[in-house]
Amino acid sequence: MSEPASDIATNFPIVTLDGGAATGKSSTARGVSQKLHFLHVDTGSHYRALTYLLLQKGVAPEETDTLSSLLDEMKLSAGIDGNLATLLADGEALSVDDLRSQEVNQSVSAFAALPSVRKRLLRYQRWHCNLVRENGFKGLVIEGRDIGSVVFPDAPFRFYLEADASTRVRRRSEEGQQDSVVERDKADSGRKNAPLLCPPGAVRINTGEFTLEEVIAQICQIVQNAPDPAN
Ligand code: DC
Repeated sequence: MSEPASDIATNFPIVTLDGGAATGKSSTARGVSQKLHFLHVDTGSHYRALTYLLLQKGVAPEETDTLSSLLDEMKLSAGIDGNLATLLADGEALSVDDLRSQEVNQSVSAFAALPSVRKRLLRYQRWHCNLVRENGFKGLVIEGRDIGSVVFPDAPFRFYLEADASTRVRRRSEEGQQDSVVERDKADSGRKNAPLLCPPGAVRINTGEFTLEEVIAQICQIVQNAPDPAN
């Protein structure tokens, strides 16, 4: 699995969705992927998976040497469930309960700030372009914190989702999750390496002002009405 360049040329559209915790990225990406028959990649789940696996091995974010060798040994591949790509570590899937546990919520920002973790996942995330082609999807919709700025900075359709803190806290508690969304955003925006930000030129959408269906429709309309770059 070699690392493609950031200006990776694809003959299919790429939609990037960045934004803080609980801004509606996953629900939006799911809806867009189903409407447009795109592959959906949730990069937050990649950081969660590595955090879960590293916590299981008892490694702390400060143990950089141990971390690097464990990351080198990990074999990452992907399964496809409908439109969603799921991370497989050494061929094994992780459960949603593992990925969304309180322990993972508390530690994921610290692991995600490490250059070795980000470098490993950057390579893995760009590799998903191969999955789009091999599985007959018409494009890629990929969500996270640094997608339009670092992973696919040349993607033609880049969006930044936001919502006020009270809306986001309410969404998480309705999902039955204990998650300090504001603290996580602060850590993710404040880190040196690939911080959470609105990529220059991205379309900002306040998801608190629209229904989910309206947000999905706005994005699909922009993608479908864009001129075909081949013409
Ligand atoms: O989207 P999420 O809440 O599941 O993401 C979990 C954490 O992963 C988030 O707090 C920061 C990290 N993350 C990141 O650093 N870069 C990404 N592209 C996606 C997620």
